[in-house]
Amino acid sequence: MKYPKEYLEEIKTRLKVSTVVSKTVNLKKRGKEYVGLSPFKTEKTPSFTVNDEKEFYHCFSTAEHGNIFDFVMKTQNLKFGEAVKLLANLAGMRPYTFSKEDEIREKKWNSYKAIFNRYVDHYHNELLKNSNSSGAKDYLKKRGLTKVEVQKFKIGFETNDLSFQENIFSEYNESEIKDTGLFYFDENKKKYVSRFRDRVIFPIKNISGDPIALGGRTLKDSKYFAKYINSPETPFFKKGSNLFNLDFARKLSSNLNNIFLVEGYMDVIGLSKNKIDNVVANLGTSLTTRQILTLNQFFDEIVICFDGDESGYKAALRAAENSIVELKPEKKISFLFLPNNHDPDSFVNERGKEFFLEFSKSNSVSIHKFIFNHYFKNMDDSPSSRAIFEKRLRSIASTIKDEFIRKYVLEYFLEKISEFTPNINLKYNKNYSKSFKSLKSTQNFYNETKSFKAIDIKEFSFLYILLKKPKLIKDNFNLIENVKLFSNENKLLLSEILSQSRNFEITNIENINVDQNLIDRVLKYASIKHIMIKYLNDDEKILEILSELIRDLKNYELEIRIEELESRFSKDLSEATFNELKQLKKLQKIN
Ligand code: CTP
Ligand code: MN
Repeated sequence: MKYPKEYLEEIKTRLKVSTVVSKTVNLKKRGKEYVGLSPFKTEKTPSFTVNDEKEFYHCFSTAEHGNIFDFVMKTQNLKFGEAVKLLANLAGMRPYTFSKEDEIREKKWNSYKAIFNRYVDHYHNELLKNSNSSGAKDYLKKRGLTKVEVQKFKIGFETNDLSFQENIFSEYNESEIKDTGLFYFDENKKKYVSRFRDRVIFPIKNISGDPIALGGRTLKDSKYFAKYINSPETPFFKKGSNLFNLDFARKLSSNLNNIFLVEGYMDVIGLSKNKIDNVVANLGTSLTTRQILTLNQFFDEIVICFDGDESGYKAALRAAENSIVELKPEKKISFLFLPNNHDPDSFVNERGKEFFLEFSKSNSVSIHKFIFNHYFKNMDDSPSSRAIFEKRLRSIASTIKDEFIRKYVLEYFLEKISEFTPNINLKYNKNYSKSFKSLKSTQNFYNETKSFKAIDIKEFSFLYILLKKPKLIKDNFNLIENVKLFSNENKLLLSEILSQSRNFEITNIENINVDQNLIDRVLKYASIKHIMIKYLNDDEKILEILSELIRDLKNYELEIRIEELESRFSKDLSEATFNELKQLKKLQKIN
């Protein structure tokens, strides 16, 4: 049994080699290629390369070489058919089962494709050559399009000439023709009528570049005609799955890591005319998670740039709430709002490529900020409005599938909320946890210990042992000399103890050159002192306690760093931050 070539091609189109390989091999980008340690051999220096443009991997140390199918067959010991199943699933495609239905579908697809190709070619030529198209030509010219764009997007115009329809009906059977959605049955006239007559035609292609649907714009400026009509859903065109210009834009993903997502055909074409080609449009329907996942197969960052009017803003909000669900750690979704009712087409034509790209760089906001800002703007300071606001944000965060992103988006929301509710959500109030009172204060013991963080008390315990067991410390100097403390006062005390211990036989508390208050504080608050009484002469036990304390302090250092990174990550969602976080968390586990 043989898989149809097209099916295999579509899998290859949808899956970059680096996407497949990076599931099992850690890859680093180097120019246009990726490098990593060979999965075919144990090695210390990377000799394994992946080239997405050429669609292969190559291992210089074993001479292994191949495409995505070879890769999973070899590394996972699979047969070809199993590899195809696995990768089709990864690409989000239906499985191919070699059933009768698949065979029928295959046949239907071939007719569908043939009819569409002929339709698109025919009416593209009609636009370019037929004098009946001069109205359409003038219209496109008026909108700033040249022959370059008309040819690049194979724009057409459906003239009143019936010969095309007659030919198609003489060559294909009714059900094949009906499937294309190009014609509909007019009950009054009792015949098939072309859906796009008298309209400028924008072909919509699938990811492999075959036209599968159309958009048609009327030339008339009248409210009696829908400005645009689109193909209905057909067996091969599903509205929420396709994106206009994806077949072309995806090819740019080896050089560019972001894609603009716009609303309309003319936005894609206008940007393309200004040499910005990494653009797709979702064509009047609301953005689906399927479309997000498809774009993420190729691009790390999606910049959603809808029209700068109210309906564009509403569409953007809907898109944000739908797509945040699929946000992944290594991906980014941001929003760009254009000024003065511009749409991307009018904006780029007025300001040009450089300005557009600069504007986009400095004005796009990441998805979680956009969502926060939107609901924040719509909140007043009444308790009920605030309650609805917080609930809404929590519920949006809870829809996110990736557990890390879910956690950090929620953290971002709560942190922002705590900024205007300083008296609640204490956990998120930074000042609270960092402040501790000076010893000079006259507060009672209880209040004082409460004002220390757990880590301060741990440090006191650590220092307490150093102060109480100078001989033991002298003998185990290597154990303590690299310990890092967090509070500045304790640091000072530690460095004094260490220098004493280094320079003298035995450390003498009297000779430690720091504010007596610092020492008193340790002696008073170290929680270890109650335990120490019991083990004062059991050096082995004390060393054991000391090692435990040291391990906790090291973990704390990691924790602080992790906290810092987590908060940074919730803001920038960058891959680098995320990787660093992952490393640190691993270290934390080891300790
Ligand atoms: N759209 C649609 N049906 C409509 C209006 C719009 O399907 N009646 C879709 C089209 O895909 C259109 C997109 O929504 O491209 C954006 O709409 P709009 O901003 O009105 O279209 P523009 O591309 O800006 O239209 P124009 O030709 O006027 O520039
Ligand atoms: Mn528009």
